[in-house]
Amino acid sequence: MSNSNGYMKFSNRALDIEPFRVVEVLTRAKELARQGRDIIHLSVGEPDFPTATPILEAGIRALSEGATGYSEVGGIPELRNALSKFYAGEYGIDVAPERILITPGASGGLLLICALLLNPEDTMLVTDPGYPCNRSFMRLIEAKAQLVPVTSQDNFQLTPELVAKYWQESTVGAMVASPSNPTGTTLKKNQLIAISQQVKKLGGQLIVDEIYHGLGFKKYIPSVLEIDSDVFVVNSFSKYFGMTGWRLGWVVAPEGAVKEMEKLAQHLFISSSTPAQYAALACFDEKTRFILDERKEVFRNRRDFLLSALSSLGFSVPCLPEGALYIYSDASKFTEDSDFFCMDLLERQGVAVTPGTDFGLIGAKQHVRFAYTADVEQLSFAVDRIATIVT
Ligand SMILES: Cc1ncc(COP(=O)(O)O)c(C=O)c1O
Repeated sequence: MSNSNGYMKFSNRALDIEPFRVVEVLTRAKELARQGRDIIHLSVGEPDFPTATPILEAGIRALSEGATGYSEVGGIPELRNALSKFYAGEYGIDVAPERILITPGASGGLLLICALLLNPEDTMLVTDPGYPCNRSFMRLIEAKAQLVPVTSQDNFQLTPELVAKYWQESTVGAMVASPSNPTGTTLKKNQLIAISQQVKKLGGQLIVDEIYHGLGFKKYIPSVLEIDSDVFVVNSFSKYFGMTGWRLGWVVAPEGAVKEMEKLAQHLFISSSTPAQYAALACFDEKTRFILDERKEVFRNRRDFLLSALSSLGFSVPCLPEGALYIYSDASKFTEDSDFFCMDLLERQGVAVTPGTDFGLIGAKQHVRFAYTADVEQLSFAVDRIATIVT
């Protein structure tokens, strides 16, 4: 395989990592918008609300007070303490601040965990469909994501049986997300226990991405930390807290892993954004939580609206998305080529959605992800436009 674009030689790892299909959609959507077309954006997983005012104000205050240098590698102690309290308040669990590492987004946390756990050629179980960047993080460090096909029968989540079936000599662990991207499905406590026990039995490490926990629409979505302190948990200020562009997340690590992770973090990032960390302290104030919880209800209403509208058009959504910002729908009634379907929908009707091919291989060409990142009025326009090409 050539590792050159005719101009410069690139590494195989760089060339192996494929661009997102959604970026193609987005680029074209922007082009069309520049030409004056009215585009409804349901493609990128980003809340469409600006960062809540109390967080903004705290960020501005921090900047004007000179919080512009590097912070401690693991994050400012105030934020680690605030998160520790958050776990006590939300889940009734005791998570020592020292086990909480602030990272540049969940992305930074996932990369750190991969770098910490995987040797070249090692593999890690991930779901197909699943969050695509994990595969890229693993490729980057010469390890490999091992795609485990998950179906609606298993609520698009790993099971202990699947873990055992796909485990190989090279496997060092399993990664799950609850609620998941792209399906929004969650793991119950007994399922988390069973997966955790299975991974332990096989001598591996469990990683749980809880980035969409704050956007869970069930009464209660358990954190894996309630049942096991020996797991890695990834979370973020991006989604529920509405701070995507501030680039701030966190990892809860097993006690024995913290030092080693901090060492890697020193080299990879030096620190996370300091003003963002001070801004994030305002996330836990009562008035901020009130705003964020109201927004969560808005997302729930949008989900309900879109789910029912898409179902009436003939899109099939076999598992209720219990959280996150997405509806992952089976569009096989309309297409066997989700890439074409999404581009066609954009070109003809100005609705930007993501093809299943971004999330894996299984059923990817028959699936489409709708992000409900527009208000119900816009969603309703989008549904009318989609109807013109599927009915
Ligand atoms: C499942 C999942 N994990 C991690 C991330 C990374 O988020 P961030 O780096 O903004 O915290 C995303 C972003 O969409 C995601 O969907």
